[in-house]
Amino acid sequence: MANPLIAGNWKMHGTAESATQLASQLGRQWMAKGSAEMVVFPPAVHISSVASALVGSGVAIGAQNLTQHHNGAFTGEISAAMLSDLGCKYVLVGHSERRTLFGESNGTVAEKFVAAQAAGLIPILCVGETLQQRQQGQTMAVVSGQISAVIEQAGLDRVCDGVIAYEPVWAIGTGETASPQQAQQVHKGIRAQLGAPGINTSLLYGGSVNSDNASQLFGQPDIDGGLVGGASLEADGFLNIAQQLIEQK
Ligand code: PGA
Repeated sequence: MANPLIAGNWKMHGTAESATQLASQLGRQWMAKGSAEMVVFPPAVHISSVASALVGSGVAIGAQNLTQHHNGAFTGEISAAMLSDLGCKYVLVGHSERRTLFGESNGTVAEKFVAAQAAGLIPILCVGETLQQRQQGQTMAVVSGQISAVIEQAGLDRVCDGVIAYEPVWAIGTGETASPQQAQQVHKGIRAQLGAPGINTSLLYGGSVNSDNASQLFGQPDIDGGLVGGASLEADGFLNIAQQLIEQK
C-alpha cells in the first residue's frame, strides 16, 4: 500500500509572519491524524521558521527546488544537503513551473532527483503534459518520457523510492482539473511503467485540487494523494482536503 500523502506547495507566496501562522494552524489541527502524511513546501527563505512552528506536529516540511550541485561557486543556489540540514524531508523536483519558466530539462531534473536522494531527501518528481500535447494524444508518451529520463540516471528502484506527482500543465493554477477518470488513467499508466517495484510508490495528483473535487480524485485506486497549490494557502481548506484523503484511503 502506498503511503497517502497530502502536499501543500505554497509557491512564492507569503511573508515570514503569514507562513509561520499558516504552519502553526496546520500543526495544531493536524496533530491527531496518523493515517496520512502532510507536508508543506514554503518558500526557501521561510523553511526555517516554518520548521520551528511545526516541531512536534507530525507535519513534514519540504523545499520547492534544489540545485543538482553539491557545493561550490553556484551563486544563489541551494543544495540538497542544505535543505536536509534545515529539516526538510521532501523536495519537489521538476515542477512544471521550473521546467517551463526556468528551462529545466529532463536531464537536469534527473540530476536533481539523484542529488536529493544522495542527501537523504525524498524527491517528489513532477510530470505532466501541456494542453497541446494532450490534444495531440501524447499524454502518456510525455509523462513516461519524463519518468524514463529519471530512471535512466537514478535507476528504477530509486525512482520507486521517491514520490511521483502527475500534474497536467493545463490544470495547474487554472481552476481546471483533470477529471478523476483522466487522472486515474495516467496514474495507472505510471504504475504500469514502474512495474512491481512501484507497487508502494505514492502517486500524487496535482492541478487545481480543491475541497470540491478532492474526494472524487482521491477515490481513484491509483491516486495516493495530492499536490495542492492555491488551495493549500488557507489552513481550513487544506485540512479539509487532507481529511477527504483520509476518508478515501
Ligand atoms: P494548483 O497548483 O493547485 O494551484 O493548481 C498545483 C501545483 O502547482 O503544484
